[in-house]
Amino acid sequence: MGNPTRVAVVGSNGRMGQLACDWIVKAVDLELVARITRDDDLGTSLASSQSEVALDLTVAGLGATHARTILECGVRAVIGTSGLHQAELQELQGLAKQTQRGCLVVPNFCLGITIQQICARLAMRFCPASGIDPVQVSILEEHHPQKVDSPSGTSLWTAALLEADGAGPVSIGSERREGVLANQTVTFAWGHESLGLAHRVTNREAFGPGILLALQHVQILEGLEVGLESAFGALLTED
Ligand SMILES: NC(=O)c1ccc[n+]([C@@H]2O[C@H](COP(=O)([O-])OP(=O)(O)OC[C@H]3O[C@@H](n4cnc5c(N)ncnc54)[C@H](OP(=O)(O)O)[C@@H]3O)[C@@H](O)[C@H]2O)c1
Repeated sequence: MGNPTRVAVVGSNGRMGQLACDWIVKAVDLELVARITRDDDLGTSLASSQSEVALDLTVAGLGATHARTILECGVRAVIGTSGLHQAELQELQGLAKQTQRGCLVVPNFCLGITIQQICARLAMRFCPASGIDPVQVSILEEHHPQKVDSPSGTSLWTAALLEADGAGPVSIGSERREGVLANQTVTFAWGHESLGLAHRVTNREAFGPGILLALQHVQILEGLEVGLESAFGALLTED
């Protein structure tokens, strides 16, 4: 095996940042070379640490700005921070091509959410093929009360994927309550039936395996990708 990949974590003092650092330190193929906080200059820290990949886990609104800086420094970017807009994604696509550095935006690192989206899109294709038409699709997302954005970025992203696959307008319900970390249920309803695909997170550690997968996948990525679906694809085609 070659040298471990040099990784910087931006927002390393935050809940997700600390978790990511713990997982990276334990991974044999990764080396944590920088813990970057709001007191540091991002570009200077990336250069002095000779980072090859930077993982951003800061605050909504900063993800695109940090992605720009990371790519302009010649570093590959994994952006887990919420709230990137379509226009920002398009701009980052161009910048990733220009700098020849991969940029992976992951609204949700849970492997179960990727599997839920794959299953939901399959159901979306299966319904009309089975004569089930129309089907009503809805999403219920439940989170802890400290979550700032509502509806969640994951629910908006899931709805957009399903609408692109032909679902009518997907309704989204949001609940914020104590005792819940992050739940999302996608429901397909027709006639006298319904089908629910439920995903539950009971501990933040659930994000760890997806963070490592994203840090590996970005190393072979050209341009911009959103989500871990093609990282799954790479896993499935491995020997
Ligand atoms: N993709 C996913 O699967 C996933 C899962 C959960 C959360 N998220 C998202 O990840 C982000 C972080 O979540 P969290 O729960 O870890 O939030 P958090 O605990 O509030 O942590 C955010 C951290 O970012 C730091 N920060 C703010 N501005 C910064 C800057 N300019 N440079 C470097 N660090 C800066 C904050 O520092 P101060 O404390 O000094 O302000 C804080 O330590 C959010 O956008 C959240 O929505 C994504």
